[in-house]
Amino acid sequence: MSTARKVPKIKPRHAIALTGFDGTPKVFRDRCNKVLGGDKTPEKPYQHRDYTPAEIRLIRLYLLSLAGAVAYPGMPPVINVRMSKGGVGKTTLATNLAVCLAHLGYRCLFIDGDPQSSATDVFGVDWTTQKITHISEVMSRVGKGPSGIQNAIIPIYPDGMLDLVAADITMENENWLLNAMSREYAFQRLLDAETEFFSQYDVIIIDSAPGASFLTTSFMMASKKLLSVVTPEPKPVAALDVLASSIAEINYNFPNRAIGPLGTHVVVNRFDQTKKPHVELLSTIASKCQGMLSDVIVRQHVGFLKENKDDPEHCGPLFENDLGAPGSRDVLDLARELVKVFDIRLAGHQAEAVLGMRIAA
Ligand SMILES: Nc1ncnc2c1ncn2[C@@H]1O[C@H](COP(=O)(O)OP(=O)(O)OP(=O)(O)O)[C@@H](O)[C@H]1O
Ligand SMILES: [Mg+2]
Repeated sequence: MSTARKVPKIKPRHAIALTGFDGTPKVFRDRCNKVLGGDKTPEKPYQHRDYTPAEIRLIRLYLLSLAGAVAYPGMPPVINVRMSKGGVGKTTLATNLAVCLAHLGYRCLFIDGDPQSSATDVFGVDWTTQKITHISEVMSRVGKGPSGIQNAIIPIYPDGMLDLVAADITMENENWLLNAMSREYAFQRLLDAETEFFSQYDVIIIDSAPGASFLTTSFMMASKKLLSVVTPEPKPVAALDVLASSIAEINYNFPNRAIGPLGTHVVVNRFDQTKKPHVELLSTIASKCQGMLSDVIVRQHVGFLKENKDDPEHCGPLFENDLGAPGSRDVLDLARELVKVFDIRLAGHQAEAVLGMRIAA
């Protein structure tokens, strides 16, 4: 297992926003000193200090009087980011949401489920120089011996706040799945075999390839919580019907796996309100999605395009590099909404208890 890529440094003003603290920076700092052991001295009582995602987690638990709470013992929500059409922003939203949830203090496991390995690139892992074990390989071992999931983990942030199971192009080969019995359940079998391992996270995010493959079906079957991404363009909007029909097929053949007609949640990405066709297509999307449309619309923002995937030194999702950018604000709104919709829990406590409550100063 390699060491974590980098430790995000979260500025106090962002830490205050992320923790939902309702007091002055001075009081926040004071409270944090209590839980983290601060560097407060009589000469510099409120010396500047940045925070890490693991510290945000501790602060939130402390502020909610949940410090020392026992972790949620069961399987965390497994969110599969899906759309039949390519290029709609699945990887962009999945990676940004993962780092955002980690910044909110949730322990996140990110599984790159796309042989094109775009998310693996975003996190700065280069499979041409570093040996990786992808999720399909781990799944193929279930029932034959130890799955080896622990060895597939690449820490992105320290303290288990963000771990990655990387992908590479060899995942394209699905021959073992073709011959596997009940292949639709292949990912579910891994979750069942390694429940204790997966339970250490608060949320699992899977970035899927576009189109349909045995692997994508297997993720959809196990997740039940799909985050479908659509852009306000004719082809992605038409692709919503294709996704709906593949979900209907799953629901018909496996009634105990019932997923909503378009997954659980649909988010519009790359929206530009100055473009008339975007505005027009938004109402088409809303009528197709029938109550599953997210309240958050992610706007077209140049910062997402500047994410540098080819340079391991300067790569990383927008949210990690610029918390105040308009695109990051949309990601934060979406993450907070998903915490509620998908029931993501901080150490086993109801989302409402953690997010709905303003912290008294
Ligand atoms: N909100 C946005 N604003 C501006 N650019 C965006 C936005 N979301 C995504 N993009 C850009 O769109 C392109 C496609 O995004 P991305 O790779 O995330 O799509 P995808 O659905 O994962 O594609 P694929 O189907 O190939 O896996 C990228 O260049 C990305 O930077
Ligand atoms: Mg992608």
